[in-house]
Amino acid sequence: MTANDALPDLPAHRSPAAAESSPASHLAWVPKAAEIALEAGARLREYFAQGVETEYKGDVDLVTVADRAVEKLIRCRLGEAFPEHGVYGEEGTRERLEGQFRWYVDPLDGTTNFAHGFPQFCVSMGLERRSASLGADQDGTLEAAVIYDPLRQELFTAERGRGAWLNGKPIRISRTQTLSEALLATGFPSRKRHASPNIHFYQEFTLRSHGVRRAGSAALDLAYVACGRMDAFWEFNLNPWDIAAGILLIEEAGGRVTDFSGNRFRLEGREILASNGLIHDELLGLFSDMFAGRNLAPIPTPQEFAHQRAAIRKSRR
Ligand code: IPD
Ligand code: CA
Ligand code: CA
Repeated sequence: MTANDALPDLPAHRSPAAAESSPASHLAWVPKAAEIALEAGARLREYFAQGVETEYKGDVDLVTVADRAVEKLIRCRLGEAFPEHGVYGEEGTRERLEGQFRWYVDPLDGTTNFAHGFPQFCVSMGLERRSASLGADQDGTLEAAVIYDPLRQELFTAERGRGAWLNGKPIRISRTQTLSEALLATGFPSRKRHASPNIHFYQEFTLRSHGVRRAGSAALDLAYVACGRMDAFWEFNLNPWDIAAGILLIEEAGGRVTDFSGNRFRLEGREILASNGLIHDELLGLFSDMFAGRNLAPIPTPQEFAHQRAAIRKSRR
C-alpha cells in the first residue's frame, strides 16, 4: 500500500483494530477487504499512470495486465486473511467454491475506461454466505461489500444489517420521487452487442428523465445510486462480480434491487434494476410497457430527420 492509500475512516464499529484481533470473525470482513481493495487500487493507479497494453478477450471486450495482476493480488490477500473463504473472480479465479463464504471479485471494473485513460474505474469485492443446502444456481446472502475508486480515493463499504458508508460516513439513497426528476445510469455489453436491446431502453429512459449516464463502471454506478448521486441503474447481462458488492450497498443504503419484472434479483440472473426504491415501480412500469411495445415515445428516424433537414435548408435558400 502506498502512503497515499492510508485507510480512510471506517465505520466506528469496524475499526482496523477489529480486523487485527479476530481475522476470521465477521468483524474483520469489511476492514480487511477494505485494506485489500486499497492496496489493489494503489496498484491500479500505478498501472493507469504508466499506461498499459490492451488485449482483446473477444469482440470489443478488453483486458490488460492490470486486470490480471490485480486479481492475483486480491486472490492472494483474501487467501491470507480468510483461508476458508472462496474467491470467484472475473479473470478466472475459482477457488474454494464449495465453502460457506465466497468473495465475488472484479479487480478492475471499467477496463475500457482504464485502457483509454478515462478516469472512471474501481475495485469491487462482495462477500456471499451460502448455506450447505443451496443449489449451485441459488443465491446465498450478501454479507459485506467494498468498492474502491482509487483516483477519487472513495471507499464505499457495506455490511448486512449495519448500513453503508462512503469513507466512513453513512450514506443513503436519494429522495427523488419521480422518473421525470431522476438521473439514471446504465451500461452496454462488450460481447454480443448486436443481441442487446438496451439502446431502446436507453432512448426511452433518456426521454423520460433528467438523463442517463453511461460512465463505464457498473460497480461505481451502483455505488453512486447507494449514495444518492444517481437515482437508478439498470443493465442487461452483468456478471456476479460486477454487481455483488453494489447490490448490498444499495440495500443497506435503503434502496431496492430486482430484475426487470420486479422479482428478487439473482446474482446470475442477467438482469438488474437498482433504485432508490421510490421510483422503482415507475421504472418497472416502463420496462413492462417496453416489453409489450406500449406507450413508446416517438422520435424521428434518421431518414425522417434528413427529410426535415433538407426541407428547412430548401426553404432558407
Ligand atoms: C464492464 C463495466 C461496464 C458494463 C459492462 C461490464 P469490466 O465491466 O462494468 O460499465 O457496462 O457490461 O462488463 O469489463 O470493465 O470489468
Ligand atoms: Ca466488471
Ligand atoms: Ca473487470
